[in-house]
Amino acid sequence: MKFFIDTASLTQIKEAQDLGVLDGVTTNPSLMAKEGITGNDRIRQHYLDICGIVDGPVSAEVIATDFDGMVSEGELLAALHPNIVVKVPMTRDGVKAIKHFTGKGIRTNCTLVFSPGQALLAAKAGASFVSPFIGRLDDVSTDGVELIEKIRLIYDNYGYATEILAASIRHPMHIIQCAEVGADVATCPLSAITALFDHPLTTIGLEKFLADHPESLSGESLSPVLLPIHPTHPEPRKLRQAADALRAGGIISCPTDTVHAFACSAHSASAISELARLKHARPNKAGLSLICDDLSQLSLYARHVDTAAFRILKRALPGPYTFILNASAEIPKLFKNNRRTVGIRVPDQPIPRMLAAELGHALVVTSVHSDDEMLEYCSDPQVIHDIYGHRLAIVIDAGHCGLEPSTIIDLSNGKAAVVRQGKGDLSVLS
Ligand code: E4P
Repeated sequence: MKFFIDTASLTQIKEAQDLGVLDGVTTNPSLMAKEGITGNDRIRQHYLDICGIVDGPVSAEVIATDFDGMVSEGELLAALHPNIVVKVPMTRDGVKAIKHFTGKGIRTNCTLVFSPGQALLAAKAGASFVSPFIGRLDDVSTDGVELIEKIRLIYDNYGYATEILAASIRHPMHIIQCAEVGADVATCPLSAITALFDHPLTTIGLEKFLADHPESLSGESLSPVLLPIHPTHPEPRKLRQAADALRAGGIISCPTDTVHAFACSAHSASAISELARLKHARPNKAGLSLICDDLSQLSLYARHVDTAAFRILKRALPGPYTFILNASAEIPKLFKNNRRTVGIRVPDQPIPRMLAAELGHALVVTSVHSDDEMLEYCSDPQVIHDIYGHRLAIVIDAGHCGLEPSTIIDLSNGKAAVVRQGKGDLSVLS
């Protein structure tokens, strides 16, 4: 049975894709509205974004209710991407439109199906998928799974190729029941798919296996993890794994838009000290700076940012800059010293920013390379893993970083002073 995810949320689609069991996506106008996707251009771009994440059928529903409107809307949608399946409601005009699309080789999903007769019509018109809404039938005290069973019997009697796509699924048992009666596809909320993983005996069994493992008994630590993460669309599960390591006081190696950095949570004093030791210095001498998710998180750590400085930050970030700003009262608490200024980055690389967002506070970072030598190996996660792995919780592998450091601009004295010209263009100052 194929698994589709029934959502327009890119985050959930990425998470389901990351599970490795996703075959496609269904959306509907309510799901698009729930994500705040409105206007034709944004809606089309959103479908393209979904097609960029999942290599499988993506149902895009027409809004028109008359034949001509459905045809012109559906043809535009189908032209967007080869994986788009035009979703058409079960009405007289809808069935006519499905027949038209079938003739043109455009795949369709006949939606809002609540009876065997409607499913028969959809198959006769050549629909690629038929979507019986089992949850909404259950909601009105009618057996939704029984409808799937009847459609299966009818389609098998005549050899219709239309795939039965069980929709309006509410929970994992719906998925199991649909599989038992032979649905071709189940389109599900993420929660119903992930619930399939869970069984208390699996959890208990795994705990026992790990407890009995010789390395666990001797207290030996497992080797540090080299964690491959997609550089532009980081997998949520892996980000959570890295965030958990940071929360637990670990240090990770992480890509930025300039060089690789060692990073820890700004809320872990012991990790900040260990980070400084990695750079052979005390925290206030180790060139530690912060990475924030965005300007709003940055404002927690900086004070007295006047309008001119704020405009420069808005122009430059996210980007390859480190801004020296007047430190807020948070900084002495984090670094246990009287630092009056702090270097803050909002890099144009989603992984560290998403980690800061997931933690809800900044990362403390320092570059992997030493300040006086920029060695080629510092850009290779595998080599960083081999050299520093024993002191790190995780080495994130999102491919090679560059070797050009950030441009450092001091905004703490009322006017901008360039401390180091690096990767960031100075045009942001004018
Ligand atoms: C999917 O194709 C349907 O639009 C969706 O499953 C409807 O689900 P709901 O009944 O939860 O709105």
